[in-house]
Amino acid sequence: MLSTSTMAKLITVFGATGNQGGSVVRAILSHPELSESWKIRGITRNPNKPDARAMIGRGVEMVQADLNSRTSIIEAIKGSNAVFGVTNYWEKASLEHEVMQGKNLADASKEAGIEHLIWSSLPYVSKITNGKLHNLHHFDSKAIVEEYITSLSLPASFVLPAYFMSNIPSSIRPSGSQYSLSWLFRPTTQIPMLDVPTDFGKFVASCLANPSATLGKHTFAASGWFTPLDVCKAVENCTGAKCEYHEIPIEAYQGSKELFDNLMMIHEYEYYGPNAQEGVKRSHEVVEKVGGCEGFGTFERFLKEIGI
Ligand SMILES: NC(=O)c1ccc[n+]([C@@H]2O[C@H](COP(=O)([O-])OP(=O)(O)OC[C@H]3O[C@@H](n4cnc5c(N)ncnc54)[C@H](OP(=O)(O)O)[C@@H]3O)[C@@H](O)[C@H]2O)c1
Repeated sequence: MLSTSTMAKLITVFGATGNQGGSVVRAILSHPELSESWKIRGITRNPNKPDARAMIGRGVEMVQADLNSRTSIIEAIKGSNAVFGVTNYWEKASLEHEVMQGKNLADASKEAGIEHLIWSSLPYVSKITNGKLHNLHHFDSKAIVEEYITSLSLPASFVLPAYFMSNIPSSIRPSGSQYSLSWLFRPTTQIPMLDVPTDFGKFVASCLANPSATLGKHTFAASGWFTPLDVCKAVENCTGAKCEYHEIPIEAYQGSKELFDNLMMIHEYEYYGPNAQEGVKRSHEVVEKVGGCEGFGTFERFLKEIGI
């Protein structure tokens, strides 16, 4: 049996069967030191689903819990040193519902005496924009939970995923022997983007390995900054065919108010709000210091992986 000093700690990962949580599990398992010093418990509502069974096959203990029930969370995180928390806004598309789930997780973590809560957060858009963009509920909800976690004096790190690269392929269309990309952004708008499966977990792993650098702070989980023209270039490099960029006039937008504000946040505030370049750089440095990974994803690599 391991002595107390070398005994592995336990992290409970919510969303282990999904995009972000799955990336966290893989990053810990593939890190030379973290894989030795941490054991992983994954949470799912259904331990019999194939994604949960696949995790068990990788040595992850899968436990059933539901973010809608504080008591089920308390039971599931018992004995954990750290917890990674993520909520899926889009299941109900309700700010109140997501805030309720996040507060359940925070309250349960407080009650269970969790040493480190790592919360998948997002910028408080209605505050950053002084109410100009007030329909971006899936951002505000996560920031409201972040404020609640802080109010409880929970030791917590806040990891803010950038714009998912996986959002983009549906806007890249074949047009004759070429491709075209149509978006609301200026051709040179800088967008922080994230290859979630490849990179998100590295940022959470960096919080786990170096909490003194991340506790109480924002970690900006971005693979890098890319413009619409960079995306076109990546398409051209992958396919050998030309990719033209078409900027859609803002007046022509026909989607929901929430997605419109999401696009406007990127258009006017580069997604994370002012001066985030420095924050992204610092977050990369923490990941690099913790080691165990080779660089960050590029849009070209992402396109090759999905097989454009
Ligand atoms: N698209 C973007 O650019 C972007 C950028 C930043 C942030 N986000 C945010 O990313 C979030 C989605 O994350 P994701 O992509 O990792 O989601 P995902 O791949 O759809 O996975 C959702 C995970 O949450 C778990 N889950 C859902 N409801 C649960 C509940 N009531 N109790 C316990 N577990 C529950 C699911 O587990 P089971 O089904 O196994 O129970 C699953 O593992 C959204 O909130 C969105 O706002 C998106």
